[in-house]
Amino acid sequence: MRAAPVGGRLGHSPPDRRSTAAHVKQNLVVYYSHSGCSRQVAERLAAGLDADLEEIVELHRRRGPLGMARCVIDAWLGREPGIVSPMHSPHAYERVIVGGPVWANHIASPVRSYLSETMEELPRVAFFCCCGRDGAHALGDMASLSDCTPEATLMMLDREIQAGDFAKLDDFVARLRKTGATAASVERAA
Ligand SMILES: Cc1cc2nc3c(=O)[nH]c(=O)nc-3n(C[C@H](O)[C@H](O)[C@H](O)COP(=O)(O)O)c2cc1C
Repeated sequence: MRAAPVGGRLGHSPPDRRSTAAHVKQNLVVYYSHSGCSRQVAERLAAGLDADLEEIVELHRRRGPLGMARCVIDAWLGREPGIVSPMHSPHAYERVIVGGPVWANHIASPVRSYLSETMEELPRVAFFCCCGRDGAHALGDMASLSDCTPEATLMMLDREIQAGDFAKLDDFVARLRKTGATAASVERAA
């Protein structure tokens, strides 16, 4: 962390923000998903925020029991597996919302790779994770890796997703829409 505890900064301002204001879009949702939960959450977030969507794709996919074992080992060791270059530049957005599954109490390794690769380009951020029991530590991983304080965080449990209970997600969207509007009005007033 470069400044204050868990991300002293609120993210970088996009370069030449004023001159490119007309081209800066508001939200980008970036996700990795192995078995579909995080994809479902990301798609719902993107729809709620009218955001663009970016999937983190690994260079080497994880398949079968060996793939599962790699998930755990990579998460334990804090590995950063190779990922396909992102299609969307974080620079082009006011805010990037990043998320994925929890593996062995950590954020999934491909999300780790994305945050490490883009940390210098990230604008304002928010994070989400999907988990069976607890994702607090994984959300902390994301703040440390990006060196950003998130505007909001969301932890979705598998049982909530399976039951179609998206109340927390809808609250998260409402909070982000509110802070988005606040930031836009500050910018207009400046
Ligand atoms: C290898 C592996 C390790 C996991 N470790 C945890 C864990 O430590 N804590 C937890 O709450 N959930 C854990 N889970 C559950 C996933 O985080 C959860 O099912 C998540 O929603 C999967 O997201 P996805 O469908 O987008 O891949 C683990 C799942 C896998 C496959």
